[in-house]
Amino acid sequence: RTRVLTGITTSGTPHLGNYVGAVRPAIASSRAPGTESFFFLADLHSLIKAQEPERTQRSTLEIAATWLAAGLDPARVWFYRQSDIPEITELTWFLTCVAGKGILNRAHAYKAAVDRNRVEGEDDDAGVTAGLFMYPVLMAADILIFNAHKVPVGRDQVQHIEMARDFGQRFNHVYGREWFTLPEAVVEEHVATLPGLDGRKMSKSYGNTIPLFAPPAELRRLVFSIVTDSRAPGEPKDTEGSALFQLYQAFATAEETAAFARAYAEGIGWGEAKQRLFDLVEREIAPLRERYLDLVSRPGDIEDILRDGARRLRERYATPLLAQLRDAVGLRDLS
Ligand code: TYM
Repeated sequence: RTRVLTGITTSGTPHLGNYVGAVRPAIASSRAPGTESFFFLADLHSLIKAQEPERTQRSTLEIAATWLAAGLDPARVWFYRQSDIPEITELTWFLTCVAGKGILNRAHAYKAAVDRNRVEGEDDDAGVTAGLFMYPVLMAADILIFNAHKVPVGRDQVQHIEMARDFGQRFNHVYGREWFTLPEAVVEEHVATLPGLDGRKMSKSYGNTIPLFAPPAELRRLVFSIVTDSRAPGEPKDTEGSALFQLYQAFATAEETAAFARAYAEGIGWGEAKQRLFDLVEREIAPLRERYLDLVSRPGDIEDILRDGARRLRERYATPLLAQLRDAVGLRDLS
């Protein structure tokens, strides 16, 4: 069976980018026959960015409810919270000891922090935690522990998956066996990087996101605040480089996208174009929003689902694998 795995960091409210880049493709692929899926809440990763306990907890609930509202069936998919599987943390250390530091030096998030420091004339590593530096190793452990073949993600995560392959390969090499399957990123081309309100990649760190479950009035207000150029109604518009167009495309069928491109060429006004985008997003999101609001009002049920998922998953895969790995690296078995 093909194993598909992906996670979302619990550091904020889920946004449209998380939905089209990860949640929607992951759930679609989990329905393909012959697939075993692993979807999780990366709460250990959230400690790197947001050292606010209440926020992490709230975000965990919201992101769990998002997966469920989007159609994840916990009876058919492994659904869990990263920190409920302590074997992931243990594997992180084993991988740390084979991971090349030089490779981690090249990780985008770390390099961006160093570049910012250089611009500001600070020491390269000022304000950089070892957690940020080690981020890709923890992520590799997430993926390798369940021998995932495919990892559906947005383009920003592709480098991390390549690193997971590298660390897995080194571990296999050092410990003389194919312990780990080498994973592949799966990136949906037309939504690989969903733009945010200002046209840059939609991201919590840019503050340009559209929350997935904003109430309709708020969603409409945000859609109407998306940047456009100053062309008047009647003037032809460029689809190339238009954030509005890219967002439309992420929710439309091929025919709808083609019709929207024609409307651009014919000089649709921006207000009209924004209204069409709002209607389109609302069509897809409204039924999910209803389920979402119901789910977040029952945190106890979500907690039960997550605990049950982690308990079964440890028993089935994580605990036996770590027992084997401890033996392989020369440590004593805990049992
Ligand atoms: P995170 O929480 O930043 O984002 C979750 C998923 O959403 C995708 N995404 C986007 N896709 C398209 N356009 C955007 N604007 C956009 N913004 C976010 C991300 O690519 C990602 O797929 N390190 C990961 C979480 C993680 C993980 C893993 C993922 C931890 N362990 C193992 C896969 C496998 C992260 O911070 O994603």
